Amino acid sequence: MNLSEQLVATSMPQHVAIIMDGNGRWAKKKGKIRTFGHRAGVKAVKASVSFALKNGVKALTLFAFSSENWNRPAEEVGVLMELFNMVLGSEVKKLHKNNVRLKIIGDTSRFDKKLVNRIREAEALTATNDSLVLNIAANYGGRWDIVNATKSLIAQVQSGQLDMADIDEEVFTQNTCTADFPAVDLLIRTGGEYRISNFLLWQIAYAELYFIEEFWPDFDEACFQLAVSAFNERQRRFGKTSEQVS
Ligand code: IPE
Ligand code: IPE
Ligand code: MG
Repeated sequence: MNLSEQLVATSMPQHVAIIMDGNGRWAKKKGKIRTFGHRAGVKAVKASVSFALKNGVKALTLFAFSSENWNRPAEEVGVLMELFNMVLGSEVKKLHKNNVRLKIIGDTSRFDKKLVNRIREAEALTATNDSLVLNIAANYGGRWDIVNATKSLIAQVQSGQLDMADIDEEVFTQNTCTADFPAVDLLIRTGGEYRISNFLLWQIAYAELYFIEEFWPDFDEACFQLAVSAFNERQRRFGKTSEQVS
């Protein structure tokens, strides 16, 4: 999508990215163990997919597991992997029925083989669906994505497929995990922290940032609507003056 297309005021952001944070604290507040919060977070994932589908969001990118989350206690990592596997198994048919294309972005090489197979099957099944693209960022890091794109470009230059002079922002974008999608319009983070935590970096250059205190398991369609309403009140200037864009 080029700049002038982005400037056309649409009421619905085309690409929404969400840092789903606060599961552990949500559980702790209820006197439960952290993983109880992760399990509860699945409902909020379903609610956000449903909102995106109903409202014509074209791409929804959810941060499920960061490259740094491996540093958590092994037991918690184990539960997160098990949950990921389970939800993939139980939800893919429904996503397919709803014409959702599922994509896992991130370094899947560290996942166990069964999970990788399940991911590939789900991606293949839903590959031609076009109501919504649901990107699940798993073992994803924004820096990793940028390094990976750089390596891929160097390999193309070395093999003579690409001329270095032809590398521009568009070509670089085409080598990141989100190559086929418009830049992120709206980035939401739940859980009250005001940081990016190595999520999409390149892709959020001009995203509107929206931080809320609610923990992820409490996020629902009404919360998503509030985020979209806040987005609609922002004036996106892309470097221009207010007068130029109004
Ligand atoms: C987000 O919730 C889920 C993942 C990072 C996998 P957290 O587990 O980070 O919950 P808090 O931030 O500790 O409350
Ligand atoms: C970011 O949350 C990662 C996900 C939501 C998957 P974290 O809880 O890992 O982020 P930090 O450690 O508070 O920055
Ligand atoms: Mg957290």
